[in-house]
Amino acid sequence: MKGIILAGGSGTRLHPSTLSVSKQLLPVYDKPMIYYPLSTLMLAGVNEILIISNPEFINSYQNLLGDGSTWGMRFEYVSQQKPRGLADAFILGEDFVENKPVSMILGDNILYGSTLVEKLQDATKIEKGAIVFAYQVKDPERFGIVEFDQNHKAISLEEKPKKPKSNYAIPGVYFYDGNVSTYAKSLKPSHRGEIEITDLNRIYLELDQLDVKVLGRGVAWLDAGTPEALLQAANFIQAVQDRQGFKISCPEEIALRMKFINRNQFKDIIKQCKNPDYKKYLEVLLHQEY
Ligand code: G1P
Repeated sequence: MKGIILAGGSGTRLHPSTLSVSKQLLPVYDKPMIYYPLSTLMLAGVNEILIISNPEFINSYQNLLGDGSTWGMRFEYVSQQKPRGLADAFILGEDFVENKPVSMILGDNILYGSTLVEKLQDATKIEKGAIVFAYQVKDPERFGIVEFDQNHKAISLEEKPKKPKSNYAIPGVYFYDGNVSTYAKSLKPSHRGEIEITDLNRIYLELDQLDVKVLGRGVAWLDAGTPEALLQAANFIQAVQDRQGFKISCPEEIALRMKFINRNQFKDIIKQCKNPDYKKYLEVLLHQEY
């Protein structure tokens, strides 16, 4: 399955830090923010990815990530002239999607947890309909929200409701069938002038083709869209990495573990690595058994 990373938006809640830098390139502890959602897609088994960002920043993503071949992947890039909404990704990416099932992740969403990978890998097998996730949060009015009936079936979806019907937010990782671009094109802009991902998901809900999988409390879902959230995310990553000695969302490591690259390609990556600590980490991995 292919994937899309949406790294657009104006990042106003992070101004002035994002006046001349794309939000999803800001560091979250020891790596650029986009490495985290990129790693999530890689762990799901996705190795062909379209990166969408604003025209003024798209070159920075290309400079950072290149064509993906070093990591055994393939990256394409498209600019979004105006922030037209998350669902616009499937219109901009229509040629990339080719009417086939596709995943999308938001460039500021950080997901971490042992039960996650299996759920994501299962979701990539989707043939019909859509799969989204639900995650309990304290402040549901900030997100897309799903309401369940007594049988845990999704019955309504709302984008940032003033009076949320549940505490279940929908994280920014989505899986769709090959109809997604067609459905996205049928959407009308919301009151804020954007075509909303929640309206797209509602099309699938009304067709009875939306599967909402609950992510339990063992999964960490963080977004990094405000100074507080960014700092919290960095502290979280630092605490876990420092304790275990493993890096969270190290694309080089995941590329090796997922067999996107072989050991010789990994050795080449180590040779190119100029950060002594990062290099040492990769060298240790090389000597571990898989
Ligand atoms: C977007 C979506 C929302 C989703 C959230 C996840 O909101 O519109 O449905 O729950 O991402 O991060 P935004 O963060 O763009 O305001």
